[in-house]
Amino acid sequence: MVAFHSALRRDLAHLARTASRHRSDDPARRRAVLTGWELFKTQLHIHHTGKDTDLWPRMRAHLSGRPDDLALLQAMEDEHGRIDPLVDSVDGALADPDHGHERLADTVDALTAELSGHLAHEERDTLPLLERSLSQAEWQGFVTDQRRKSGIRGAAQFLPWLLDGTSAEQTQVVLAELPAPLRVVYRRIWQPRYARHDHWSHQHRHEYRPARPRAEKNLGGPAGDSIREAL
Ligand SMILES: [Fe+2]
Repeated sequence: MVAFHSALRRDLAHLARTASRHRSDDPARRRAVLTGWELFKTQLHIHHTGKDTDLWPRMRAHLSGRPDDLALLQAMEDEHGRIDPLVDSVDGALADPDHGHERLADTVDALTAELSGHLAHEERDTLPLLERSLSQAEWQGFVTDQRRKSGIRGAAQFLPWLLDGTSAEQTQVVLAELPAPLRVVYRRIWQPRYARHDHWSHQHRHEYRPARPRAEKNLGGPAGDSIREAL
């Protein structure tokens, strides 16, 4: 949850900077904003769908007779439902090259307020409930199912997005969860491919740093998926 929520907050900050700028007709900048936005939308949708259709049901199975906990999961689902139309409003503003800038700031403010509140709520109340209600093996089952659903294509898109701008330490923790061959694929193919495109800002260049043997040797995250790190 830490890594994923951080990536969402990073993109909300990019979005706020986009909205605060004056309108630009620079096609490269517009392309960069739309590239960042599309990826944000995709990852948010996948993540919320996985929770609503798979994670909450697994948790509910352990929570019969606990109305407060069940109400919390319903609140999570409701908050996800409130975020969707706010995403659509930003989408509409960004897709309108003539008048979208007139309403972009308001739509971005509304999305940021709702999503930020939701992320904080989920971290404060739902994460502790998750850790109490699912065993490590059940959590691992959820993670494995999600990975199978998104497949290698999903991972190729998700990982460079997740790790964009993260510290070397956080990157190592996440990469340590991957089988060694996929770590190589990430460093040699997925990350460089992501870095070839501008995300959010035309000026912002992603530097590709080839894997160094020392970094590989130091990979030493938890043996299994930690709920806090991986959600
Ligand atoms: Fe959520």
